[in-house]
Amino acid sequence: MYLRVAALSGILFLTSCDLSPDSPHGFRLPDGDAEVGRIVFEEKQCSSCHIIEAWPELREGVEPEMDVRIGGMQTRIATQGELVSAVINPSHRIARGYRREPYVSGGESSMRTVNEDLTVAELIDLIAFLQGEYEEFPDY
Ligand code: HEC
Repeated sequence: MYLRVAALSGILFLTSCDLSPDSPHGFRLPDGDAEVGRIVFEEKQCSSCHIIEAWPELREGVEPEMDVRIGGMQTRIATQGELVSAVINPSHRIARGYRREPYVSGGESSMRTVNEDLTVAELIDLIAFLQGEYEEFPDY
C-alpha cells in the first residue's frame, strides 16, 4: 500500500512539475517597457513577416514577406517562456496554424532570428510589447 502511494505521488510529481535541467521552472523576466519593445520590433524588422492587429502602422512602408499574426484574442495570454522561445528558438514549437509551408520548411521554422543582434534589455522590452498584444477570451 505504501509503495503504491509512493509510486502514485511520484507520477503526480512528474506530471505536475517538470524539474529536469531544461524545464522552464524558475524562469522569470524582469518587467519590460512595452513602448520600447515596439520600437525594437520595428527596428529588427519583425513586421516584414508579422501582423499585430492593434498596430497596422508597423507594416507601413514594409515589403511583406509573410502574414503571421501575433497576439489578439486567444484562450489565454502567451507566457514569457513561450514568447522568449518563439523569438530566440522558433523551431522549438511552431505556432498553431502555421505548421506548413512556407512558414515551416524542412521541419524548421522559416522565422529569422536576431540572436546575434539583440541585447538582453531589448529582448525583455520586446517580450513586454508582444505579451501586451494578447487578450484572453472573457469567461461566459
Ligand atoms: C522571415 C519571416 C519572419 C521574421 C523576420 C520574423 N518572424 Fe516571427 N515567425 C515567423 C513564422 C513563419 C512564424 C510561425 C512559425 C513559428 O512558430 O516559428 C513566427 C512565429 C513567431 C511568434 C510565435 C507566434 C505564436 O502565435 O505563437 C512570435 C512571438 C514571433 N514570431 C516573433 C517575432 C519577432 C519578435 C521577430 C523580430 C525579432 C520575428 N518574429 C521575425 C516568421 C518570421
